[in-house]
Amino acid sequence: MTENTGRIVKVAGPTVVAENIPDVRMFDIVEVGNFGLIGEVIRLDGSRAFIQVYEDTSGLMLGETVKSAGVPLSVTLGPGLLGSIFDGIQRPLNILREKSGEFIGRGIVASALDTEKKWEFTPIVESGAELESGDIIGETPETAEIMHRIMVPHGVSGVLKEIHSGFFTITDTIGRLEDGTELKLSHSWPVKEERPVKRKLIPDTPLITGQRIFDTMYPIALGGSAILPGGFGTGKTVVEQMLAKHSLVDIVIYIGCGERGNEMTDILIEFPELDDPRTKRPLIERTVLVVNTSNMPVAAREASVYTGVTIAEYYRDMGYHTLLLADSTSRWAEAMREISSRLEEMPGEEGYPTYLSTRIANFYERAGLAVTGNKEERTGSVTIVGAVSPPGGDYSEPVTQASIRVVGSLWALDSSLAQRRHFPAINWNRSYSLYDQRLIGWFNKNVGDQWSKCRSQALQILQRDAELQEVVQLIGPDALQDTDRATLELGKMLREDFLQQNAFSEVDASCSTQKQLGLLESHIRFHERIRHYIEQGGNLDDILEMPLREQLAGLKYNSEQEFGDKLNEFYDNLDRLLS
Ligand SMILES: Nc1ncnc2c1ncn2[C@@H]1O[C@H](COP(=O)(O)OP(=O)(O)O)[C@@H](O)[C@H]1O
Ligand SMILES: [Mg+2]
Repeated sequence: MTENTGRIVKVAGPTVVAENIPDVRMFDIVEVGNFGLIGEVIRLDGSRAFIQVYEDTSGLMLGETVKSAGVPLSVTLGPGLLGSIFDGIQRPLNILREKSGEFIGRGIVASALDTEKKWEFTPIVESGAELESGDIIGETPETAEIMHRIMVPHGVSGVLKEIHSGFFTITDTIGRLEDGTELKLSHSWPVKEERPVKRKLIPDTPLITGQRIFDTMYPIALGGSAILPGGFGTGKTVVEQMLAKHSLVDIVIYIGCGERGNEMTDILIEFPELDDPRTKRPLIERTVLVVNTSNMPVAAREASVYTGVTIAEYYRDMGYHTLLLADSTSRWAEAMREISSRLEEMPGEEGYPTYLSTRIANFYERAGLAVTGNKEERTGSVTIVGAVSPPGGDYSEPVTQASIRVVGSLWALDSSLAQRRHFPAINWNRSYSLYDQRLIGWFNKNVGDQWSKCRSQALQILQRDAELQEVVQLIGPDALQDTDRATLELGKMLREDFLQQNAFSEVDASCSTQKQLGLLESHIRFHERIRHYIEQGGNLDDILEMPLREQLAGLKYNSEQEFGDKLNEFYDNLDRLLS
């Protein structure tokens, strides 16, 4: 007689080996042991299945049973995602806590989305309509700001027989096709599979972050990707949170893999209290949090990036611009390393599995600007910004290297800048954006046609500033000519008054592109006037005594409303004192 379950033959940390699981397939979800722990089959070898378990495996015994659920690891997609806080396999943290307290118990099954809540659904199609997957059949107001568009799931098509308006739960039937297929407000999707789109577009519009070092200097495109590598304490988490708060996108998905003990707890307490600076409504209403606390098993951490990006793709499919933030992807890579070593796979560089760079590339490739839908086309995007924590800040390590190869923007955090309290501690000489040439036209057209000129002049001054500083280190400042001293002076001003942006300043935490251009242009014009003055035989020290420098330094602390007037005041003074 054959058994109808498999049996555990080995337990190694977060991994389990089982034999003879009936009908098991690669990537199936399995129920492991007497607790019914959730696991995933990640390798098959003859009658043996290698399983990563998403819950604590301690106490599992050899011989306990393993059953396949016959489906791959999937997420539930439907109204109610926004505002949710999930673990790596989309279990809602508040329900887990209610059921088991602070230390999440094992084998707890909790539905990802509230199955009792009723949502108001308004159809936009009528019976008789020919539907294809991706078509929008109706809408549900998910939050005050976001309309949730209900789409025909992938793989489903046919003639609509009936559809109803009214209040429904996510599992109620809202309509039916001629062939009997039921339509619902929710469906599920395997997380490791990219959701298909009609076509991908070349990203040509910037994602405005409100951070000058990014928007002006090293912009990212809507649908692009960037990494933020930086050692401990360089500001990765602060930057990711600034992006969550101030970026001009519709939806933010925040994946937290805490680096410090209490970091995730802080996020869980603080995030729900933050206000959206644009709408003044709670930020969480357009955010989904996927969190891994340090007491959660590594396999769940490994899954969390897939859970997050799948949710981001789902809102993209509705035609929204979504931003996926992952802090820190190094913790994800370490989870891969641990699982791989438990499975006794052949290790690659620094013990990471040989497939590390493929996994990283596949993840960032899920970013993009895309057209979805059929007859009615929509454009949406997934932009990915991943923090990376190279040990000792050394970029030559495998995770940083594999990430650099596939992303479009490198935002290099620098511990010496952080030590000098230059924040955001992004090194302007080491960072780059592969999108800048494509986006510059947008800025010139939509913000001001001085944009590209001012930007390249500022970058030149900063580069010259770095060169001159080396000279000064060697031979001292006295040997420099006044024009070079002027460049050093301007370099310092650009660094302090333009690039530095305090995340905790009420006014300066976010800066509109108009204000960015105003600040940049005023610095560049000041520099031109100084050079002219010196060329005419004037003395730099005289200029430095004029009240212009302080005035320029104070400009960024003016609110968006006051900024224009203050800028004009500066230009008036500049004309008067230094024409
Ligand atoms: N943009 C910023 N403005 C002001 N302070 C910052 C900024 N970025 C970082 N900091 C300071 O640096 C500290 C460490 O930043 P954090 O983001 O926690 O580092 P990491 O995540 O890289 O370890 C913060 O607590 C804060 O004091
Ligand atoms: Mg951090």
